[in-house]
Amino acid sequence: MTILKPVLLVLLPPVFAVATALAGEIIIHVDKPGAQVSPTLYGVFFEDINRAGDGGLYAEMVQNRSFEDFSSLLAWTTMENSNAVVMFSLDKSSPLNMNNPTSLKIHIEKTGGGRVGVFNQGFKGVPNEKIRDESEIFLQRFASAQNSPANGLAVQAGKEYQFSICGRAQDFSGRLTVSLETQAGEVLAKQVLERFGADWKKFEASLIPNKADSNARLVLSADQPGTLWLDMVSLFPKDTWKNRGLRSDLAQMMADIHPGLLRFPGGSYSEGHRLVDAWRWKETVGDMAARPGMWNIWGYRSTGGLGFHEYLQLAEDLGAEPLFVAHVGMAEKDFVPIDQLAPWIQDVLDAIEYANGPVTSRWGALRAKRGHPTPFHLKYVEIGNENGMGYWWGGGTRSDYLPRYQAFYVAIKASYPDIVAVANIHTEPDAPADLVDEHYYENADWFFNAATKYDSYDRSKPKIYVGEYAVKNDGGSGNMSAALGEAAFLTGLERNADVVRMSSYAPLFANPYWEKWKPDDIVFDNTHCYGTPSYHVQRIFASNRPDVVLPVELPPSTNAVPTLYVVAGLKKDSGDVILKVVNRAATAEALGIKLAGVDGEFSGNTCTELSAAALTDENSFTKPAKISPETYMLTGCGSEMQHTFPPYSVTVLCWAKIDRNKQSGNETIR
Ligand code: AHR
Repeated sequence: MTILKPVLLVLLPPVFAVATALAGEIIIHVDKPGAQVSPTLYGVFFEDINRAGDGGLYAEMVQNRSFEDFSSLLAWTTMENSNAVVMFSLDKSSPLNMNNPTSLKIHIEKTGGGRVGVFNQGFKGVPNEKIRDESEIFLQRFASAQNSPANGLAVQAGKEYQFSICGRAQDFSGRLTVSLETQAGEVLAKQVLERFGADWKKFEASLIPNKADSNARLVLSADQPGTLWLDMVSLFPKDTWKNRGLRSDLAQMMADIHPGLLRFPGGSYSEGHRLVDAWRWKETVGDMAARPGMWNIWGYRSTGGLGFHEYLQLAEDLGAEPLFVAHVGMAEKDFVPIDQLAPWIQDVLDAIEYANGPVTSRWGALRAKRGHPTPFHLKYVEIGNENGMGYWWGGGTRSDYLPRYQAFYVAIKASYPDIVAVANIHTEPDAPADLVDEHYYENADWFFNAATKYDSYDRSKPKIYVGEYAVKNDGGSGNMSAALGEAAFLTGLERNADVVRMSSYAPLFANPYWEKWKPDDIVFDNTHCYGTPSYHVQRIFASNRPDVVLPVELPPSTNAVPTLYVVAGLKKDSGDVILKVVNRAATAEALGIKLAGVDGEFSGNTCTELSAAALTDENSFTKPAKISPETYMLTGCGSEMQHTFPPYSVTVLCWAKIDRNKQSGNETIR
């Protein structure tokens, strides 16, 4: 049993414990354990959408660090003075490397006695507008973002930030000053770089601001005439999550879910709008400066800083099984001809070798060179994303997908028979599938109804991974109604754990200033983050995953539409019993609860409760914890008890079994 943190640990019974007549009894048959619950049942799906990756989890603070993001100087602002004679241009004459062809050229005839240079404000965005790919609208939106009054670089006083830059020069014997500054020009930290030569050279410096600012700029300015070429301008906080270059608060929120699975790198992000935009894993490993990056389907460029290795490492750090969504040669709008699939199939085989191969193999050696000689033990490979579903926006039909899927499936199984291949659609009876990925973005009622969806699933069919789901149309920006619908649905997934082996909510992250899709699990800006009620549901369910399902008898419902959704399970080692109850009604529900067939005693139980006053209630930056779980001990509760489930609530009750074998005078609660 996991107790959620932060918790409010009180010994008082909850307000609703004084409720009136019991509406019936829940009976949990503890002596009749059913299906095994997979450790991967509750997972997370990471996709770089809404700035989840670049500008989010990936802690790089400089936007467009390699000057490849656009044909204009995107995210950078030039600085000169009225007496200066200076030219700024994007230059490809002498690239840092062939994957990073563009650098910023600053040709200074006269400094004019003032500052000459550029500044970057990080990932500034504009709220409540949808960004468009490669269009005028994108540029206009971007221009207004640069002028927005907040959300520049967020720096803390006394914390170290690691700066680096690649530079070369011609006829320049001056210095390049690097400073963190407020919008008004107050210098918070400063370093001076000198001795630029004709060849590219990497410079590193540490910046420690003397004052915090959440809307700062990184300024690069030269003090002499001459010509400078700059590239790979980077600023990272020194403290990142597990020193992996990930933003600590965001990574920790992921970790707090205790996911058993990490699906990556997308979604539509991995497919690409067209094949040229596909995520190719080989372009995301190795030297950061040589990762070409890509213009992603969600309307901005990704650096590739979060690459294949980083995702595998993240899964390992989270204690989650990695699931790699491999490209099946089908983008949303164009497909690789069947007879030209070989290099795409080889890419997947090489990816598996990178993850799992011996250090003597070609790709395993590269993994070892990156500091991970031991294999990552990748077990799950999804063959495409949402391909073959016949969606109006693309991804192909069943007949487009099947032959491609089969070609990948056969090749993967031939080389790696133990890999679990995940299909995007039900390929049976035409082709085998180890697991089928189903996606659901529907309204809340659909999810409540779908709590019984898998009760009648034909057990002879393939097992299920619900790889993407969320209440979408009536979920606001993440309201309690959405969370309740999803929680009800999850009771159905857990009850049918023999069929449903994995699940993951989507999308995981959103910066509302760059929002393309809502609702989302975790909302963040440059300084803060909070979980939506849906996030808390994820966390509560994953933190209280039993090992086996227990049968439950419910009192007959007096409502036309059921209002209670229930699942129970057992922790095999400890004998602890876990009951999850979703009450979607506007009224509290007082029920008796009986643990039938129990062998032994329980020493009390823990109650974790998530509830809201109204279905439309949401968390926000100003009230981030308005809807958040509380955990308290219930005293004097054994195998027969009463409990009142509040209106609009998700409740988890855990009975801790007394372990008499381990006692030495005192009772031990396991
Ligand atoms: O989660 C957002 C998107 O929804 C995913 O990229 C895609 O797979 C689905 O259509």
